[in-house]
Amino acid sequence: MSEYWNRRFAQEGMSWGSEPSPTAMEAKTLFRKNNVRSVLVPGAGYGRNTKVFSNEFETIGIELSGAALGLAVEWDPACFFISGSVLDCNLETKVDAIYCYDLLHLFLYEDRRRLVSNCLDQLHPGGLLYFTSFSDEDPNYGCGACLEPATYEYKEGKYAHFFSEADLKQHFEHMEIIKTGTYIETLRDPQGSTRQYVLRSIFARKLHELPLTW
Ligand SMILES: C[S@@+](CC[C@H](N)C(=O)[O-])C[C@H]1O[C@@H](n2cnc3c(N)ncnc32)[C@H](O)[C@@H]1O
Repeated sequence: MSEYWNRRFAQEGMSWGSEPSPTAMEAKTLFRKNNVRSVLVPGAGYGRNTKVFSNEFETIGIELSGAALGLAVEWDPACFFISGSVLDCNLETKVDAIYCYDLLHLFLYEDRRRLVSNCLDQLHPGGLLYFTSFSDEDPNYGCGACLEPATYEYKEGKYAHFFSEADLKQHFEHMEIIKTGTYIETLRDPQGSTRQYVLRSIFARKLHELPLTW
């Protein structure tokens, strides 16, 4: 997967512009109300969304693509970026909250489970998480070859999982789910063209340690 993202960021630079997602602003408000002091951003990209958090919270970004990290350290010097995969990471410190934008849908079932489990391991008990992912109401749902239930190769060589609300909740079944939502996200590339995606969000709290087998 890193080859795809490296090539993309090397060719396009800040592919989705510099404006953060409105979901990052919503997450920040929720985190602030809950006295969060530290935030982890897995799949941080070039720092478009980390910058929302790093001016108020101690913020750590984890990112696989070296090309994205090169842009990220310039764009958001207040964030501490770690090079690596969220599927393998094990940070020494735990955080109060996690914001994860459009990463979960990039993986097949087993790796989605691993990503959620790894994220929960990084959270203090009582910690919060806010995730966004493609919705099954997005027009790309059902397009292309079906690789697993609700997972489609919607563009050549690129697949994603499209979440129903029940499916998203099931991925976080060991947490207290506080809120779910649906968003139409408008992304503007550096040339000014726009694209829209239908996303789902979930805001949840870690209650206690996960069972060992999950
Ligand atoms: C759809 S982009 C979202 C980027 C960022 N969250 C944003 O809002 O701008 C997915 C990002 O996740 C990164 N990524 C993909 N697989 C990863 C992995 N296993 N570990 C860490 N980052 C990963 C990609 O390099 C890319 O930057």
